[in-house]
Amino acid sequence: MSMEQAVYQELQETIHFSNRTGVRATCPDCHVPKEWIHKVIRKIKASNELYHKMLGTIDTVEKFEEKRLELAKNVWRTMKETDSRECRNCHNFDSMDFDRQEERSASRHDEAIEAGYTCIDCHKGIAHSLPEGYDPAEDLPDGEE
Ligand code: HEC
Ligand code: HEC
Ligand code: HEC
Repeated sequence: MSMEQAVYQELQETIHFSNRTGVRATCPDCHVPKEWIHKVIRKIKASNELYHKMLGTIDTVEKFEEKRLELAKNVWRTMKETDSRECRNCHNFDSMDFDRQEERSASRHDEAIEAGYTCIDCHKGIAHSLPEGYDPAEDLPDGEE
């Protein structure tokens, strides 16, 4: 099984794949094609020897898991830089009806607007399994690392 198959399988189990209203988020909705991640996936697919040497061969789930935390951190950093742009293509604080959210959600979202936190600060691992070795205490939304 390849890296792409593995993450696809995980995505299928989330609300972004199947939900009441039938709106699906696909890979490019959250990872714009120009981003490094698609380049990486394309390069791996093309079996370019040079890239294999540079990246190591991420062609098995085991090898993927080894690199996973590093790959995830890259995505988090990018999303943080863009104020979670891809999430905001579909979701927006302005259009959220806080009265219809869980109390816990609404109060955290109030806090987020107040403090200027972005979606990915609090919503890691919503589409894939969190990488092994990820320590949530290491990156609290207020940036204490
Ligand atoms: C293509 C549109 C789209 C994109 C992009 C998207 N979402 Fe969603 N998201 C949805 C839909 C649709 C739902 C399900 C809504 C429902 O039926 O309740 C959802 C649900 C959620 C939920 C609720 C989870 C639950 O268990 O109820 C969270 C949290 C969330 N999204 C966060 C994010 C974050 C963070 C990002 C960016 C990394 C993101 N979304 C990107 C469309 C999107
Ligand atoms: C300060 C942390 C924080 C930030 C920042 C944040 N959220 Fe949340 N959000 C939460 C918590 C906590 C919940 C409760 C459910 C959970 O634990 O995932 C939640 C719940 C949700 C839900 C489900 C709402 C419900 O009650 O059905 C959606 C959708 C969602 N968030 C989307 C987003 C999006 C999109 C952004 C960025 C625009 C965002 N959140 C930013 C903490 C946050
Ligand atoms: C709803 C948004 C969303 C969708 C849809 C999504 N991803 Fe991701 N992806 C993320 C986020 C956020 C991360 C950062 C790690 C995390 O929080 O899980 C990530 C991380 C990754 C990583 C780095 C390794 C890892 O697991 O952290 C790969 C590879 C990846 N995604 C590929 C894909 C592929 C391929 C698809 C389609 C099958 C896909 N993603 C669909 C949001 C998404």
